[in-house]
Amino acid sequence: PDAERIDDLVGRMTLEEKVGQMMQLDARSADLEDLIVNKHVGSILHTSPADLPKAVDLVNTKTRLGIPLVIGDDCIHGYSFWPGATIFPEQLGMAASWDPDKIEAAGRATAEEVSCTGVHWTFSPVLCIARDTRWGRVGETFGEDPTLIGELASAIVRGYQGGAKAGEPLPKDAILACAKHFAGYSETQGGRDASEADLSHRKLESWFLPPFERVAKEGCGTFMLGYESIEGVPVTFNKWLLTDKLRGAWNYRGMLITDWDNVGRSVWEQKIKPDYVHAAADAVRAGNDLVMTTPQFYEGAIEAVRTGLLDESLIDDAVSRILAVKFRLGLFEDPRLPDEARIATVIGSEKHRQTNLDLARESVVLLRNDGALPFAAGSAHRIAVIGPLADDAQNQLGDWAGSSGQVNWMPDGQPREMITTVLDGIRELAGDDCDVVYSRGANVVDLVPDPAGEFFPDGQPRPKVAVNAPVDRTLIDEAVDNARKSDVIVAVIGDVVQLVGETCSTATLDLLGGQNALLDALAAVSRETGKPMVTVLISSKPQILPASIVGANDVFAKRCNDPSAGAGSILWAPSPGMEGGRAIAEILFGQFNPSGRLPITFPRHAGQLPVYYNQIRGQHGDRYADLTQDPAFAFGEGEGYATFAYGEPTITGGATGDDGAFSVGDTVHAEITLTNTGERAGTEVVQAYVSDVVTSYSWTDRELKAFRRVTLEPGQSATVTFDIPVSDCTIVDPDARRIVEPGDFELLIGHSSRRDDLKTVTFAVA
Ligand code: IFM
Repeated sequence: PDAERIDDLVGRMTLEEKVGQMMQLDARSADLEDLIVNKHVGSILHTSPADLPKAVDLVNTKTRLGIPLVIGDDCIHGYSFWPGATIFPEQLGMAASWDPDKIEAAGRATAEEVSCTGVHWTFSPVLCIARDTRWGRVGETFGEDPTLIGELASAIVRGYQGGAKAGEPLPKDAILACAKHFAGYSETQGGRDASEADLSHRKLESWFLPPFERVAKEGCGTFMLGYESIEGVPVTFNKWLLTDKLRGAWNYRGMLITDWDNVGRSVWEQKIKPDYVHAAADAVRAGNDLVMTTPQFYEGAIEAVRTGLLDESLIDDAVSRILAVKFRLGLFEDPRLPDEARIATVIGSEKHRQTNLDLARESVVLLRNDGALPFAAGSAHRIAVIGPLADDAQNQLGDWAGSSGQVNWMPDGQPREMITTVLDGIRELAGDDCDVVYSRGANVVDLVPDPAGEFFPDGQPRPKVAVNAPVDRTLIDEAVDNARKSDVIVAVIGDVVQLVGETCSTATLDLLGGQNALLDALAAVSRETGKPMVTVLISSKPQILPASIVGANDVFAKRCNDPSAGAGSILWAPSPGMEGGRAIAEILFGQFNPSGRLPITFPRHAGQLPVYYNQIRGQHGDRYADLTQDPAFAFGEGEGYATFAYGEPTITGGATGDDGAFSVGDTVHAEITLTNTGERAGTEVVQAYVSDVVTSYSWTDRELKAFRRVTLEPGQSATVTFDIPVSDCTIVDPDARRIVEPGDFELLIGHSSRRDDLKTVTFAVA
């Protein structure tokens, strides 16, 4: 019935109405009535909730056909724009949990909150692969591995869409998901946002496309395109990617949207289209549906059809896909307006706070424990909590969280009382007989007026810009004094929202301001006095920790046989959200046993980048002469308070070929025994990698294929099983085709991506 209604509507629409239907415009900087009545827009974004009833009224009373608007917004780790909404760990923090169930629950909670505000659609999740971590948007990703990204993105899509599969109606408390940025946007040059990148079809097929294919199968309702080009053709105009691959090979029936003014910037910025008429025509021909924030698309597309440059039937196809989304949301029957009663009970509810805490706990990664963690009961009568991130609510939430770098036009941040900082959390849990004494210790950045001027050309105030703060010796001296008088030192350092996010890539990953000097001074106190020290890094992405903390491991130190060890224990909390400080405190005091694992490699030095684990193997001279290529911490690493022993893996069946060999249609059944050898219950993330021993074309040494979180009591053992389809054991040939090559394979199961952490069993494919 929807298809009939869609055909009927499209048949009755004028060309102007159809072109308008393909446009999404920014409602903040335009006259709503003009957009809806004169431009016939199909969608608006970044809309004040107060405008939504007005928008619906305009559609119903002043447009000929009353076609509802679909309202989209960036609800990235919670509803970023809504003061009082639950703000979860950022996506990279979610990924550190390696827990699809908890991530699905976060997506569900976000959908429940967003759907009652009148917004129908979130521009989330990000499926970009983070390799050069100088890129500003690393924190928005699920990390560096295609399998992990695909699984976790599918989980959050299920949560957002209430489990609705492709084309199925969305429940009232669900929102449309948007897989972005299709595809390869993160593969930048020098980490700079949306810079020209070398993206061959083979490279895309090898790493960047598989997570998108996975969420397309999950029924993700929409895809957003990247800003970058593939072999010289911007994604927005890339018929190979949009039509041949996505709509053709994958049979994707959802809706596509460009990113911000992608169509327009082909004229004014990239200068690859002579005018908006050609830009509009080419964008439609490539397979686009909604065009985000290019007002000139309206005149451009109409002119293109009138002059015969563009076939109107292509516009009809795009409009049909847009209307299908509106039917899927049931907007013709119910415009899903803001619901005050639900807003009052659902947004920021206690239930969602608990969901958030559950995820925040699992998102924290214990990178190193020198034995001081967890703090033994009664061992500390005075705790020095030191550092600029210890009591910094805004930077703990990270990007896309109200008043942060990305959403700096929002006047209101999230209410301070909803956020537990590390200082708050430690104070809550320390007990009455323990003093908690705070020193700031260092500044990170100074905010100064933008040299480009106080206002944007459209009159919006320009936010201040961040510059590196000087080292302040007085702050360090106070902190050292505090550390000397305390039993335990907790240093909380990290990054700031002004220096992460879209168009905010950085040339280095060093800790800014006085933070390195502070850590050096505290590490010296810890070494000299033997006082336990814990460094808590709160940052949107891996940062370079100084040698005093992480240890020296450059080639010169190794040659002198003196790779000095760093001080103390290290925790990483990737922008951990409102409950982050509580989760970290629970881990410090042993109330929660950490189980986070790295979804991304931690470099020692920005000069090592890229340093992801699944690089192409065996390149001659592929290393530095002055620095080890070994990262500070590898993909998949992370400790807990229990210890685990792995048995030897075995292949238990699945082969149908001669001599026990597997065929392409088979599934490798494998198992391994895991034992908790520690004294506490704990969770291990068991990771399964496959290595194709000899390949016809250059390939990586190993790739993650599956993972399981397994919780065991002390002394308890479990058999962990994996079923790996042989059809997943592929490489990509020079024609960008996925192939399984006959020969020997290794199945590697264990604690992290490091070969030393993995047990091996071999199998053959005939
Ligand atoms: O959703 C975002 C996208 O990730 C980057 N450009 C702007 C869009 C809408 O705000």
